Amino acid sequence: MSKPASTSPTAENTQLKDIVAHAKEYGFVFQSSEIYDGLAAVYDYGPNGVELKNNLKRLWWEAMTQLHGNVVGIDAAIFMEPRTWEASGHVAGFNDPLIDNLDSKKRYRADVLVEEKAAEYEKAGDPARGAALTAELGRLLTENDLAGVKQLIIDEKITCPISGTAKWTDVRQFNLMFSTQGSAVDSEAPPVYLRPETAQGIFVNFLNVQKSARMKIPFGIAQIGKAFRNEIVARQFIFRMREFEQMEMQFFVRPGTEGEWYDTWKAARRRFHEAIGLPAEKLRFHDHDKLAHYAKAAVDIEYEFPFGFKEIEGIHSRSDFDLTQHQNLSRKKQQYFDNDIDPATGKPYGNYVPYVVETSVGADRLFLATMCQAFQEETITEGEGEAQTTKTRTFLKLHPAVAPIKAAIFPLVRKDGMPEKAQQIFDDLRFDFRLVIEDKDAIGKRYTRQDLIGTPFCIVVDGQTLEDDTVTVRHRDTREQTRMPISELRSYIGEAVSFKTVFAKL
Ligand code: GAP
Repeated sequence: MSKPASTSPTAENTQLKDIVAHAKEYGFVFQSSEIYDGLAAVYDYGPNGVELKNNLKRLWWEAMTQLHGNVVGIDAAIFMEPRTWEASGHVAGFNDPLIDNLDSKKRYRADVLVEEKAAEYEKAGDPARGAALTAELGRLLTENDLAGVKQLIIDEKITCPISGTAKWTDVRQFNLMFSTQGSAVDSEAPPVYLRPETAQGIFVNFLNVQKSARMKIPFGIAQIGKAFRNEIVARQFIFRMREFEQMEMQFFVRPGTEGEWYDTWKAARRRFHEAIGLPAEKLRFHDHDKLAHYAKAAVDIEYEFPFGFKEIEGIHSRSDFDLTQHQNLSRKKQQYFDNDIDPATGKPYGNYVPYVVETSVGADRLFLATMCQAFQEETITEGEGEAQTTKTRTFLKLHPAVAPIKAAIFPLVRKDGMPEKAQQIFDDLRFDFRLVIEDKDAIGKRYTRQDLIGTPFCIVVDGQTLEDDTVTVRHRDTREQTRMPISELRSYIGEAVSFKTVFAKL
């Protein structure tokens, strides 16, 4: 029996640690600048990680731009004119409330300290007290009552996990945007920011795209790109990073229709996560109590990580907030002329600033969810009676469409023409799939190596292959082997790894 690792509270940290160690050992994710002891909350993707991540990104991109005739893509720059971030509200409002402990000199997010206390009440069987605390925190933050947040921390007797004391500074707001010098020649020039979300690159290009691609409302603009946030609480591996990648789509709609589109995209995005292999029971919606400055309605799609249900994607109804803000600050009209007939008036809808429904998923969080879901440990019993042995097999049960390598080809021995035959198969299939040839060690060890990186198929070239051009294909999840003609490999593997298997479920 294989099982995704348990999520009991005692197992959760061990399981994440196992996944982090696995990700490093098998070339998925490395700590950035590790030889200098690393840079906190910044990570690099290794040879298998980059393939997996690219596959996830490509699936998202095609699900957006290929499956929808009315969604097109862009690739905007990371740097933007600084006024963009004034208009978007990020200069004034993209803050986290911070508090320092005077004894340990450690800095915390004040809201996280309170949320952790609320979670403690919940775990201790007093969910009502936890909920009341969360609600009170929400109220104080909405009113920007930072003194009230500090008082809440004191009243709840929250202490620093390092020093154990409650000697706290006042709570103050800290802007999460990274900035850098804007001009090499003008030291007075305002700083430029590293974008904290990719969405603004879409908003400022709304009319460029609408006009050049002749888009009619409703339509969407999709983008994948890096975003940067100076996160205070950086932990849980690649869950919360300072440099990360977002896959965002802004869907521009006629005002008044945003509710329907919000529901449509909410359902569509959940189907996407299920289609790539995140099980329905490990996904849930979580409506926001406290809305971001731009949102009129917002829901998270959460996945049950080893450390609990956490957000992987946000769906936000952003009204005309962003386009109107840009219109006001840039003094350039951000309007669309809708010549469809309004049945109420019998006349065209005319000019308006469109409303926006946004879908925003983190590529790194989707990667982490995929790894957590795929990481399997199963007990294998071999032999009978006294000769019986048991061992644990670790493997990544990745959807074949996202697996870094689609098939490994093993010549059984390094002689008798088997390596040459393996090379022939590789050469024949390499235009279709990412493959490797493995000829070192016993076959069992080679299977193990491929299991650990989630390769769905291992093709063995043996003595019989040289006689009748058949090979065995061993399946990662069941360990079953099927004998088949080499001529059938392309369609057999192709069907399993095709993006169509995912798209058909959307
Ligand atoms: N444009 C809307 C927006 O940025 P968000 O909820 O702040 O909304 C969207 O971010 C998604 O980006 C999140 O659901 C998450 O997957 C990802 N994300 C946000 N901050 C992140 C971080 N520090 N590290 C990794 N991913 C992050």
